[in-house]
Amino acid sequence: MYGESFAEKLKNAMDRRGCKQVDLVNLAKKEGIPLGKSHISQYLSGKVRPRRDVISWLTGALEVSEDYFDEEERKSESSYSSYFRKSTKLDNVLYDVRGPVVELAREMENNGTHILKLNIGNPAPFGFRTPDEIIYDMSSQLTECEGYSDSKGLFSARKAIMQYAQLRGLPNVTMEDIYTGNGVSELINLSMSALLDNGDEILIPSPDYPLWTACATLAGGKAVHYICNEENNWYPDMDDIRNKINSRTKAIVVINPNNPTGVLYPVEILEQIVEIARQHKLIIFSDEIYDRLVMDDLKHTSIASLADDLFCVTFSGLSKSHMIAGYRVGWMILSGNKKLASDYIQGINMLSNMRLCSNVPGQSIIQTALGGHQSVNSYIIPGGRLREQRDFIYDAVQQIPGLSAVRPQAAFYIFPKLDIKRFNIHDDEQFALDLLKEKKVLIVHGKGFNWADPDHFRIVYLPRIEILRECMEKLADFLSVYKQK
Ligand SMILES: Cc1ncc(COP(=O)(O)O)c(C=O)c1O
Repeated sequence: MYGESFAEKLKNAMDRRGCKQVDLVNLAKKEGIPLGKSHISQYLSGKVRPRRDVISWLTGALEVSEDYFDEEERKSESSYSSYFRKSTKLDNVLYDVRGPVVELAREMENNGTHILKLNIGNPAPFGFRTPDEIIYDMSSQLTECEGYSDSKGLFSARKAIMQYAQLRGLPNVTMEDIYTGNGVSELINLSMSALLDNGDEILIPSPDYPLWTACATLAGGKAVHYICNEENNWYPDMDDIRNKINSRTKAIVVINPNNPTGVLYPVEILEQIVEIARQHKLIIFSDEIYDRLVMDDLKHTSIASLADDLFCVTFSGLSKSHMIAGYRVGWMILSGNKKLASDYIQGINMLSNMRLCSNVPGQSIIQTALGGHQSVNSYIIPGGRLREQRDFIYDAVQQIPGLSAVRPQAAFYIFPKLDIKRFNIHDDEQFALDLLKEKKVLIVHGKGFNWADPDHFRIVYLPRIEILRECMEKLADFLSVYKQK
């Protein structure tokens, strides 16, 4: 019908064929089309319009006429309301950590409802405050931070990062190999844009921190997800990695310690990844933003320290390990065999120059933050706040019938598994919405982390135990009767 939006057209076509979201996902899976339930929910909510190739696949799958979806586009092009359309580069880019469930929570809050938030890894609102020394040092340097810095960052900041890299055993790192960024987020985007041509493939864990998939997709690349295996402590499945490598695979992303599973990879696992990267000439991108939030006397190893013959890019920053997320301080370190990547490094430099530099007051505290007493240690030792919260949340999850989880060892996340048969869950976003509406508790569903099945969700255990207890009581209550429709 004239005036119908793409979302309405899609819904009508699905209804006509009695096709549910899950049917489309299964069909797409069979035909090798990268289409998850979150994608379809976003299309149906009208927030995202699929890419051309996905529209053409939907046309065939739903048996509608060739111009069924196009017709709407042509007509809407002449209508004022959709004159300015977002770039098609954003088609299939998802970032559900701040997606539709969070939007509903915001609406509920605007209407005066108090929401218990277990959804975002932002330490400050939960009382993890920036050490006074850092605030003092930033304020006393503010007048010296009025101009742009070198595009890679201030000398003092990069020197401190370089020394940090040396202590962690990263090979062959000079001052020129260090880039500061407005959080690791900016550098993930930059490193993907500089590398990927249309159709290039990059291996990214599933579940992942979804910015990696989003930035790889935005850059024109194809995010190919390798499975992390819950039965094996959420470690990457090496056979799955090997099976997914082909001539277009350029790199592998490792997130260690991991968001959302909270696990830390031992050296043996890292060595196996290095061996695969070596055999197949892959770049290793290692996101280590939680490297100092490691509990149980375990030790974090930087994968780059095991790979002096490969080209590695290691990411870290102050948002998590120093709990200073709002100042937007991150960095990346190039290491190992840089000759392999001289052309790519030129691309990185070009993009780094184009953004002029990262926030200079933020850079000015890197030296203070990385040196001397690490206040964050008091949170992770026995009796420390984060460790107590971790122990509490793990026990609480285990006690709820129909829930189970791998015990997290690092960061501040747990990724529980839902017994989907017991709760009849076929749509995890719906589960998150139902929990929010019923109990005012906000979590992120597993699909938000590019996890294919609807059987997981992530809890951020930064809130104090009293709040966590209240949340878990509500969750237990909710699940004691929940059956998804
Ligand atoms: C694994 C991982 N990498 C990167 C980031 C982004 O960090 P930043 O605040 O430095 O942009 C996050 C934030 O949650 C994360 O979990």
